Amino acid sequence: MSSVITKSHFSGYLKLSRYLWQRQNGTTVDSTKTKQENLEARQKEIMARGLPKRKHIRGVKQIFLIASGKGGVGKSTTAVNLTTALKIIEPRKSIGLLDADVFGPSIPLMMNIHESPMLNRDNLMEPLVNYGVKCMSMGFLIDEKSPVVWRGLMVMSALDKLVNQVAWGPLDYLVIDTPPGTGDTHLSLIQTLFITGALLVTTPQKVALEVTRRGANMFKKMNIPVAGIVENMSTVTCPKCMTEVSIFGNATLSMAKELDVNILQKIPMHESIADSSDNGKPVVLAAPKSRQAEAYKELAEHVVTFLNKQEINKE
Ligand SMILES: Nc1ncnc2c1ncn2[C@@H]1O[C@H](COP(=O)(O)OP(=O)(O)O)[C@@H](O)[C@H]1O
Ligand SMILES: [Mg+2]
Repeated sequence: MSSVITKSHFSGYLKLSRYLWQRQNGTTVDSTKTKQENLEARQKEIMARGLPKRKHIRGVKQIFLIASGKGGVGKSTTAVNLTTALKIIEPRKSIGLLDADVFGPSIPLMMNIHESPMLNRDNLMEPLVNYGVKCMSMGFLIDEKSPVVWRGLMVMSALDKLVNQVAWGPLDYLVIDTPPGTGDTHLSLIQTLFITGALLVTTPQKVALEVTRRGANMFKKMNIPVAGIVENMSTVTCPKCMTEVSIFGNATLSMAKELDVNILQKIPMHESIADSSDNGKPVVLAAPKSRQAEAYKELAEHVVTFLNKQEINKE
């Protein structure tokens, strides 16, 4: 004999299933709202629950990312010159530099640090300091000559250690040098930390600009303010006739306009910039009176102006 579902059976069944669903999902359906509104509220709730919570790093007032779409455009060079320039123009501020490029750390070479960090009483790694900047890099933890085969979760756990297992505080600014692209490292940093802002480094080549646009859009989507663009290797001066030429073209301005961000600085291509990085003393310190050093100091001033307008962590 087939059972007959009566109206009262059915409404009882509906009530029970709604009760069970609400209990399981911890959501109450607001009968004053439309189905669509309830659905949207629920989606919001799931999204909030699904994403890792953003945290501050204890004692770190502001976190600033250096990013680019492509590799080799000068992020690390910008990061070391920016941090050392910040220390010159704001000597009373404490500055940190985190090398988040787990696969290809450059900070040990560029900041001339080749030791391993010590653990403090709280089992946290003490950053290594040179030129007044507190630094941490995967390169301090692994043998420089051994290949780094960090993948997926291992990258994330390495990154987590560099961020959370380090005695960073007290710091006014923590500058993070990121790997090329808009990959897992960036997403992980953005989703787990309160990032104050980002700086995009690019060369004026079309191929670099295209991927820079992707980076800018990622930051916009994640509500991270973009401080501006650094156009690196902007021009080169012929050492014989002293003519300045833009070998990579000059498409940056139109892209900056399109993205509604400012070009904060144009850094020339100069052998002193590459040499000083290779020798472990950023050009800002190696040739402090040079045009290159001046350009980085001006950049640091723009960055300070930007950071002064942003929120400060008081934890
Ligand atoms: N403005 C510049 N003039 C000359 N060489 C530069 C300049 N910027 C970067 N370089 C050199 O280019 C190479 C790549 O720079 P790097 O900062 O390591 O790039 P990224 O971190 O984006 O991969 C390095 O050898 C660096 O010394
Ligand atoms: Mg780099």
